[in-house]
Amino acid sequence: MLVSENAFKLWAIHPTADRYTFEGADTLVEFAEAHGMKVRGHTLLWYRYMPDWIEKATFSPEQWDQVIHEHITTVVSRYKGRVQYWDVLNEAISDGGSGALRQTNWSDGLGPDFVDKVFTWAHEADPDALLFYNDYGAEGMNRKSDRVYALVKGMLERNVPIHGVGLQLHLTEAGVPRPEEVQRNIERLAELGLQVHITELDIRLPDRASADMFETQARLYRAYLEACLAVENCTAFVMWGFTDRYSWIPSFQAGFGHALIFDAAYRQKPAYFAIRDALAPQSSKLQDFGAGCNCTP
Ligand code: G3I
Repeated sequence: MLVSENAFKLWAIHPTADRYTFEGADTLVEFAEAHGMKVRGHTLLWYRYMPDWIEKATFSPEQWDQVIHEHITTVVSRYKGRVQYWDVLNEAISDGGSGALRQTNWSDGLGPDFVDKVFTWAHEADPDALLFYNDYGAEGMNRKSDRVYALVKGMLERNVPIHGVGLQLHLTEAGVPRPEEVQRNIERLAELGLQVHITELDIRLPDRASADMFETQARLYRAYLEACLAVENCTAFVMWGFTDRYSWIPSFQAGFGHALIFDAAYRQKPAYFAIRDALAPQSSKLQDFGAGCNCTP
């Protein structure tokens, strides 16, 4: 499965009101198809990194409906049947105690039922795509994950089309949610009938990480994978990149890096071997990875 780190984001695919730039997303989808891989489309709407034409717009409520509906319809229908999963909404719940939905220019414009609207529009554009709410810090059992649970439960009760929750898991090896708790959280979401995807796993280490830290990192990678494998409805385990050569961490978190399973020279790290070992007994359960290509599973 491939995930687009940036190509589907509104700033990348729809940088000005009258212009779509599909090249990056097209390239990624074509690569996935050539290699028998599925695609997670990340993400239709996010409170951060919106282009000025959205951030600074002064549309009427009717215009907001029209603009966001048009964006979702254009992007989702272009990749209908080719992008199997969409992160429709990314990180909509605030970190503060209230756990309220974040306020943005566009969500205020769409009104209090904006969550229901955007999922409905995505579903209308591709009824077969599975639609996800994706967030960070809501992986274990905590106030934020309670809030995510309440949000998606409410959507299901209102018959809003939502099919899954994405748990990002951007972590530092020093402070992580307990894997048993992550499993419990996955289980409660599964009991609602939802799928869960681990969507953005990476575990950053200080620049001068010790060998012990790489071992801890490996144990954690394995533990989260096992938490996912333990629950049938946890159907994808996606890392936010695979090589430390191309990772968002060093440029966003000064002094940290080494977050992925291959190092910057593409050498396997302990985390690579840890997840390989955890997958070995499961290999018969893995979907026919590589079908349609010459790759080695
Ligand atoms: O190459 C571009 C260039 O074309 C563009 O015009 C220019 C202006 O911004 O800079 C370059 O784009 C950068 C892009 O990454 C590609 O490298 C952006 O500045 C930079 O902001 C962008 O950062 C991404 C960030 O989201 C914001 O979109 C990171 O790569 C990406 O890893 C990060 O991903 C997020 C998830 O979407 C949501 N969860 C958290 C995760 C990490 O922050």
